[in-house]
Amino acid sequence: MKNVTVGEFIVESQNNFPGSTGELSKILSAVKLASKIVSHQINKAGLAKEILGSSGRENIQGEDQQKLDVFANDSFINALSARGVICGVASEENDSFVAFKNNVNNDAKYVVLIDPLDGSSNIDVNVSVGSIFSVYKRQTQKGSPVELKDFLQPGNQQVASGYIIYGSSTMLVYTTGRGVNGFTFDPSIGVFFLSHPNMKTPDQGAIYSVNEGNLNQFKKPVAEYIKFCQSQNNSQGKNPYSSRYIGSLVADFHRNLIKGGIYLYPATKINPTGKLRLTYECAPLAFLIEQAGGRAISENQRIMDIIPTELHQRVPFFVGSKNMIDQLEENLERE
Ligand code: AHG
Ligand code: MN
Ligand code: MN
Repeated sequence: MKNVTVGEFIVESQNNFPGSTGELSKILSAVKLASKIVSHQINKAGLAKEILGSSGRENIQGEDQQKLDVFANDSFINALSARGVICGVASEENDSFVAFKNNVNNDAKYVVLIDPLDGSSNIDVNVSVGSIFSVYKRQTQKGSPVELKDFLQPGNQQVASGYIIYGSSTMLVYTTGRGVNGFTFDPSIGVFFLSHPNMKTPDQGAIYSVNEGNLNQFKKPVAEYIKFCQSQNNSQGKNPYSSRYIGSLVADFHRNLIKGGIYLYPATKINPTGKLRLTYECAPLAFLIEQAGGRAISENQRIMDIIPTELHQRVPFFVGSKNMIDQLEENLERE
């Protein structure tokens, strides 16, 4: 079988769109480059102590920034700005969006949003982490600097989204709205190969993923759903599902995408709108899961339809296999 590289795959997909300008392909190629740099750095984390641990700073959300958060943020922003194919980027690690102000960038039609390093509390303990990205067409006129409204678009306007998982191997998984494809990195030659074509998530899985330490803080319908997951209620007296929670959203999502399952980050008493960020985390993963046949909702609406009102907005997030989200949604609607 011919080994298809991600570069070849992107070019082939672009050829299916005769009017395509190649800008999206260049964005994906910049993401690919940044992910290789970040992957290389993460792989060295245990050896090079100077890249582990806190940077000593906090991001705008009051979270401790790890050194690798800062490194990944710089790597993605530099790779994206250097190619002159986007007019600006918004990142979980920056207070506000970054407008690329030279003429080439101002003439570009896309903006990118990133969570440069997801699960960063897991870096120091050699557990999988990731990066998440999404691409939108700008709302403002080409030729002018980008504005906040270019970044505050509902997920249903995404042109592309994806993630990189730095796990036992590094993988790039992305969609441009025509299914989901996964590529595995071969570090010996520095190339991503198509390993998971046309990914589909099972309609029903056997895994639930949630930080159960927060159970007493969840609202009643969610707590009841978790109790159902834990109950011995089928004919063999077994629990319906197994619990699996890594604490790196990308890694939990990736496992459930492949095996089937449900991931929950509900509202808690301490975080009444949940913890995960709509623009950098929830919307891109919602686009991917829907393209793979699954669903993503907040408490009472489809994640993809939520119009963000601020860059770092958080929302309760439930994502996964269709039947499992359907059942949770019934619980939520009964209340
Ligand atoms: P980030 O590292 O980008 O700030 O994201 C952390 C997120 C996500 O990766 C993970 O699923 C979640 O935080 C874990 O939160 P809890 O520790 O509250 O379970
Ligand atoms: Mn994250
Ligand atoms: Mn992050």
